[in-house]
Amino acid sequence: MKTKKLIITIFGSTGDLTARKLLPAITNLTKNKEISKDVLILALGRREYTKKDYLDYMQTLTSSKLDRDFLEDHLEYFKMQITELNDYHSLKNKINEYSDRNTQNLFYLAIGPELLENVSKNIFESKLVEKLSDRIIFEKPFGHNYDSAKEINQMLWQYFKEQQIYRIDHYLGKEMVRNIVNLRFGNKIFEHIWNKDNIASITVLAKEEEGILNRAGYYDTAGALKDMVQSHLLQVLSLIVMDTPLENTSEAIKDKKLEVLNHLEFDSKLSFLGQYEGYLQEKNIPATSQTDTFVFLKAELHSKLFENVPLYLLTGKKLDEKKSQIIIEFRSVSNQLNLEKETNKLYIDISPNEGVRFNLNHKVFGLNDESATSDMKYSIKDNLKDELPEAYEKMILDAINGNNQLYVRWDEIEQSWRLIDQLVNQELDFIRYKTFDELKERIKKTEKIDL
Ligand code: BG6
Repeated sequence: MKTKKLIITIFGSTGDLTARKLLPAITNLTKNKEISKDVLILALGRREYTKKDYLDYMQTLTSSKLDRDFLEDHLEYFKMQITELNDYHSLKNKINEYSDRNTQNLFYLAIGPELLENVSKNIFESKLVEKLSDRIIFEKPFGHNYDSAKEINQMLWQYFKEQQIYRIDHYLGKEMVRNIVNLRFGNKIFEHIWNKDNIASITVLAKEEEGILNRAGYYDTAGALKDMVQSHLLQVLSLIVMDTPLENTSEAIKDKKLEVLNHLEFDSKLSFLGQYEGYLQEKNIPATSQTDTFVFLKAELHSKLFENVPLYLLTGKKLDEKKSQIIIEFRSVSNQLNLEKETNKLYIDISPNEGVRFNLNHKVFGLNDESATSDMKYSIKDNLKDELPEAYEKMILDAINGNNQLYVRWDEIEQSWRLIDQLVNQELDFIRYKTFDELKERIKKTEKIDL
């Protein structure tokens, strides 16, 4: 249990993310004694709020119950304009009031890319980040295309040391995403079959039932391709199809993920974008918006392991269910006995119901001789008494501990933006959809894919 004081200052503290993810994550980490009990959350905002007003407002942004008692004790709302350098001096005074020599500072920038430059410069000029143990987490999106991301990154390098910069992709903190390396490289049965000779296709999907909630301002400038594919889906796919890292270290894994991003090619004819019906009627969305809320992409990886294996990425809002999953479909058996009921599939369930399933063909039990298929299943929930920690808990904890293993390296972001820019320039087909079934039908016209 760490006892040194910790101050977590949140920029963008009146947003959804703070209410739904950051405050609960910090609450759990403290209550579970993973971080110092001597933690102060400084929530910055420009509105005239008392702590009570602030917490009341945050509760309206999330359906889960915030831990009021904990937050009353450990949070302060601090009114300031984050674009005004002058206000940073009062913020610094506030931080100093609470600090001693050993206090660690973590700054969480949950703000849009348009504010990033101004805020980073102000943090630098007001000398808020001084020690190497002071760190800044940068929430995605990191830019809106390759050029802007590059500019942002160069600016950050001007102000901060790389060891202080944490570029977050919360999917990398999810239990089953963290498990991919163990599954792939810790099991003899997968070691020699994880390749084009044995795998017929790979699908990474992240479906959501919700629409854009109250994030119109951000979402309409991004869309699903930039919001989900540039970060989460490309990261997950890279872990699934990368070559074996030279060693089990963060850098060696990132090197191999980067090779994937460098050799990935999308098929723009078979990929398409969609927008849910009703999107144009959402509050604060322009009536002519062409923003994508759904993406289906077909890709190929030019590597020895996976050349010619179709790779699919699918994500969207207002679909039939909330589910994130990886499906590895194996090729048919090569013998003539006709005992294969279904091709083998390995499902890595990222959420909900984290776990792994693998369908096996077998004989129907009893007197019958026909073939059947059943799932071999490992479900984390069935094996765990407590709740699994949320991805944001792992990410915040790692940043506090100076472990950037699950954080994204600049060259990965750079290359994934190059891929997204190419797709944007190719002007993919764009359709409106009401249901997931319509999208599925369209995909199934050309692709043999199990959705
Ligand atoms: C965020 C996106 O990064 O991920 C959101 O900005 C999306 O639009 C969310 O809803 C999905 O994350 P999760 O953890 O709920 O699958």
